[in-house]
Amino acid sequence: MKSTAIAHINIALVKYWGKRDFLLNLPAVGSISITLNDLFTKTSVDFNTDLSRDILYLNGQRAATAQENRVSNFLDLIRKTADIKHYAKIISNNNFLTGSGLASSASGYAALTIAAADAAGIDISPVKKSILARQGSGSAARSIFGGYVEMKLGNNPDGSDDYAIPIADENHWPLEVLIVITSNDEKAITSTDGMKISAQTAPYYNNWVKSSAGDISQMRDAITNKDFTKLGDLAEHSCLKMHALMLSSVPPLIYWNETTMKVINHIHEMRKKGTAVFFTIDAGPQIKLICEPGNAHKLKTEFENMSGVKKVILTSLGPAAGVIEE
Ligand code: PMV
Repeated sequence: MKSTAIAHINIALVKYWGKRDFLLNLPAVGSISITLNDLFTKTSVDFNTDLSRDILYLNGQRAATAQENRVSNFLDLIRKTADIKHYAKIISNNNFLTGSGLASSASGYAALTIAAADAAGIDISPVKKSILARQGSGSAARSIFGGYVEMKLGNNPDGSDDYAIPIADENHWPLEVLIVITSNDEKAITSTDGMKISAQTAPYYNNWVKSSAGDISQMRDAITNKDFTKLGDLAEHSCLKMHALMLSSVPPLIYWNETTMKVINHIHEMRKKGTAVFFTIDAGPQIKLICEPGNAHKLKTEFENMSGVKKVILTSLGPAAGVIEE
């Protein structure tokens, strides 16, 4: 009853921020993401009759109790589906920085879902896996799939129609991404807490929710037609709209630092001079630059040389999550 899986991080081009149900973790808006190739979580799950509780090792260390309890609650869903009672030893490693806006919960819960389902011997469809992963973290539902992915906005109170589906695989349009790291600190406010604050206090919250469906359908078209300017404009708009919502929350959710802003300004300057490059930013200070196929390499050095930038990672679109042999 042991299995190991790998799942890759994803970044949203049309953002998810807000929940229609906090208990079942149902998003208040749909979203569209790209799965990335070089940043991933590898997780093994070993269900074992000798254990008296679930034990989680994260990046080489026993995890904090709160984290371990969250994972244990998630594994209860798998145990219920598989009709088993055993606890598990979980070993999870990210090949990148955890907890600073680089979507570790997305790849983390997607890898946990795939490994735990396989270890428990349950044979379920990718959509069912996406529904399970969503209950660990909303964005994890998208990391089940590779390439271009849409997270549906469901209607059902039980969340049975809240799952991700693939739009196109990673070979459809091999965009490249530069991840510009501007801080190594863990983020102060988690996305779940931030989403609660925004829903309760941000004056634009209802308009944010209402305007999302239009962004989703336009983004789907931009991906299908490989329209880079449209994709980039929409991605920046969705990102800035989300951060405007965060900034207008009480207390304000300010995830950027001065280098984040400097990189944004630089991208706008580059575009004026004819370079096609767009950005997106999640709940953290790192900036993800979206580049046309073959263009990221020459932009990398330019951002590496900017003061305040700690590191730049070049990556491409990545595959679906899956079990690996060890
Ligand atoms: O899945 P969560 O709860 O970590 O929320 C992700 C929220 C954003 O990364 C800010 C946006 C998104 O759509 O990924």
